[in-house]
Amino acid sequence: MIDSIYSISLRSKLLRVGIRFVRVIQDIFLYFFLENKKFDISNLTGNTPNIRSKKSKKGFEGIKNRLIYSNNTGGINKKDQEVLSKVIFDRSPKRVLEIGTHTGISLYTAAISLKKNSIIDTVDLYDVNKKEYFKKFKMNYSPKKILTKLKSEVKVNFIQTSGIEYLSTTKKKYDLIFLDASHRTNKTYEEIVGSIGCLNKNGMILIHDYHEFNFKQIFWKIFGPKLAIHKLSRTNKISCKRLNDDSSIGFIHRKIKK
Ligand SMILES: C[S@@+](CC[C@H](N)C(=O)[O-])C[C@H]1O[C@@H](n2cnc3c(N)ncnc32)[C@H](O)[C@@H]1O
Repeated sequence: MIDSIYSISLRSKLLRVGIRFVRVIQDIFLYFFLENKKFDISNLTGNTPNIRSKKSKKGFEGIKNRLIYSNNTGGINKKDQEVLSKVIFDRSPKRVLEIGTHTGISLYTAAISLKKNSIIDTVDLYDVNKKEYFKKFKMNYSPKKILTKLKSEVKVNFIQTSGIEYLSTTKKKYDLIFLDASHRTNKTYEEIVGSIGCLNKNGMILIHDYHEFNFKQIFWKIFGPKLAIHKLSRTNKISCKRLNDDSSIGFIHRKIKK
């Protein structure tokens, strides 16, 4: 019995490793088909948020006990929640866009970190508030219900469409855009380009799963965001950095001359 459980778990691990490996190869392949285009990046900020500032530390202390919902559901982890929250406390964006709502972990983190009357538009391919959706990821509540339970005071609009479609058609502008959707090189590239066009002056873009390329980690990590940014940085003065070594949230910024 134990032997057969062990063999099933080993096989499923190998399958996952295999799928990741194929994805990495596909992502590298996709990189070479991306255009080297130049974009207007004048609205993208060049100032790094200070997640060690008094404001961000104090703000995070005030909400950290409310970060109670599971992070084993495909949502961002505890360290990412901390980084996202601290960026928001440091910069106080008023209009936020999220691409990739899923179970609502990053959404509710942002919502309880934002000032009253801020707005979040959150986009996903699926109807994330449908029971069949969130139950599949072992959540007891929908993202909408979590926001109500946490007494969130920000206005949240759920939008069901693809990120690229939304970014290329909306007339709205944002102070902060959080990208956590497809993660494939080509789609992430389009999402970043679309996001740059939807920023208010000094707007910020944060991207999840930003990992430096590392052959040892090729079976475990996702490299689409890294590759997409690398391609964009060849023809545009943009770059990306992690704000904390234990978080995979990357901060995309304009390169500033020193
Ligand atoms: C990793 S999950 C996001 C996790 C979420 N930010 C959280 O912390 O709970 C990725 C989500 O992006 C959505 N997604 C994937 N591709 C997309 C696309 N092209 N446009 C919009 N959403 C997409 C998926 O349906 C999934 O819900």
